[in-house]
Amino acid sequence: MEENNKINELHQRRRKAMLGGGEKAIEKQKSMGKKTARERILSLLDEGSFNEYDMFISHVARDFNMDKKELPGDGVVIGTGTIHGNPIAIFAQDFTVAGGSLGLMHSRKITKIMDYALKMRIPLIGINDSGGARIQEGVNSLAGYGEIFFRNTLASGVIPQISVILGPCAGGAVYSPALTDFVFMVDNISKMFITGPEVIKTVLGEEISMEDLGGARVHCETTGNAHFFAADEDECFRQIRELLSFIPASNESQMDPGEVSEPAGAFDINNIVPVDPTLPYDVKDVIKAIADNSEFVEIQEMWARNIVIGFSRIGGRTVGFVANQPLEMAGVLDVDSSDKAARFIRFCDSFNIPLVTLVDLPGYLPGVDQEHAGVIRHGAKVLYAYSEATVPKLTVILRKAYGGGYIAMSSRHLRADFVFAWPTAEIAVMGPEGAANIIFRKEIKEAENPEEVRRQKVEEYKSKFANPYVAASRGYVDSVIEPSETRKLIIHALEVSERKDVTMPRKKHGIPPF
Ligand code: HXC
Repeated sequence: MEENNKINELHQRRRKAMLGGGEKAIEKQKSMGKKTARERILSLLDEGSFNEYDMFISHVARDFNMDKKELPGDGVVIGTGTIHGNPIAIFAQDFTVAGGSLGLMHSRKITKIMDYALKMRIPLIGINDSGGARIQEGVNSLAGYGEIFFRNTLASGVIPQISVILGPCAGGAVYSPALTDFVFMVDNISKMFITGPEVIKTVLGEEISMEDLGGARVHCETTGNAHFFAADEDECFRQIRELLSFIPASNESQMDPGEVSEPAGAFDINNIVPVDPTLPYDVKDVIKAIADNSEFVEIQEMWARNIVIGFSRIGGRTVGFVANQPLEMAGVLDVDSSDKAARFIRFCDSFNIPLVTLVDLPGYLPGVDQEHAGVIRHGAKVLYAYSEATVPKLTVILRKAYGGGYIAMSSRHLRADFVFAWPTAEIAVMGPEGAANIIFRKEIKEAENPEEVRRQKVEEYKSKFANPYVAASRGYVDSVIEPSETRKLIIHALEVSERKDVTMPRKKHGIPPF
């Protein structure tokens, strides 16, 4: 009998804790299209797999009448569970409890689950829905954030870290997501900013809504701070599950090759790339024509669209694609696309995911804006990331590979393992028009018919350099291939490079052009 009472008490305590901030606060949460913290976890994880810890934590704030307030679980839910049967660690802030604000014990719960994730070498998922530092707890809240940021950094490159913004993520709190690998946002629900609209109005006199300041669209399209955009929470959870199917649990865990399936649908890959170098095409068609099942999980789809990055499987193995997008600004490298590519290359390298680079670009974007925005520094990140990456690096030059763009996009010179070129490839210092205008300037100027001579010189330059055979004659390109041979060759190259082993010079760490 006594025993049963104890169990009843446990049930009672659990029920109370699981009610979070109470029915009214839950109602408000739902009215905004938001699930509660526990509902979110249950929707995301495999059914029946979630185990919660620290449910009965109590906060330690005493000032400002806080000693009279009960804050169940101190506004955050932590635990472990599985996704696709693989263990993960998770925390979800509970906005119904003091606005999910972060006090000392709240932060200790988060750092506890972060420590688990790192120790157990399993992915960490953080669901953010919080008014930021708990104002009543002063420096203890700041200390909590500091402890979280430190652990984000420690875990970087060891375990995948995913941040999901499902409500406000305000003030310094934004720096935890910013330190993680993938940030997910949901239309109308997610908000992320350093200073909110009220502060902006007071200090700068400018009026702006939270949505326009730091909503999902802003961060997915304009700032590049977020990687995935979803219409609602359920879509967001599906995206997270899909992403996790492509990446390993840690930098030391091997993903065994899965089943091989052919690209879905009939792709006329030999005819995707127009021979005329001025005509655009969608490089994602090339990816789909190569990938198993034509499956491609694109990352940062809405930002810096002149480069395409994301995961596929080829021959059952996960690969990271980096591809210039001729549909958008001819696929140039600029400040944003360089940042986007470089970070992704480093993620793939950290987690042993081979890189497949598809090249078609006229080079780095010229212009005062880009120069003054630091295209030198940002562009250097691509060179650094590719040079530093020791995972298998497979490059396919589809068409244009001009100038610095040729070198940067995983060229032989940055130690690509295999470089293939399609017959449409043009590898040169610059495009034929620009080149002819410079090197034949005098002849063109002095000719009786300058236009005719210019045309001739462009043709002369084209026939000499605008092809893959000069590079192939020096061994910079390993094979000139028919596009339809690409998938077979990539599968083979992935097999050959499975046990690739290169050693870099011993150093504490490099100094990338951050
Ligand atoms: C304590 C907080 C809080 C906070 C919200 N609450 N934010 N309590 N500290 N930071 C409480 C509210 O008092 C309220 O309590 C409950 O949470 C719900 O908040 P509402 O304001 O009613 O919700 P809503 O209208 O949806 O507005 C959400 C919000 C707003 C936009 C997030 O609450 C807000 O602006 N909060 C303050 C944001 C902020 O400036 N944070 C500090 C940033 S500085 P009751 O009891 O009434 O239900 C920072 C520094 C970190 O974070 C530095 C790290 C390096």
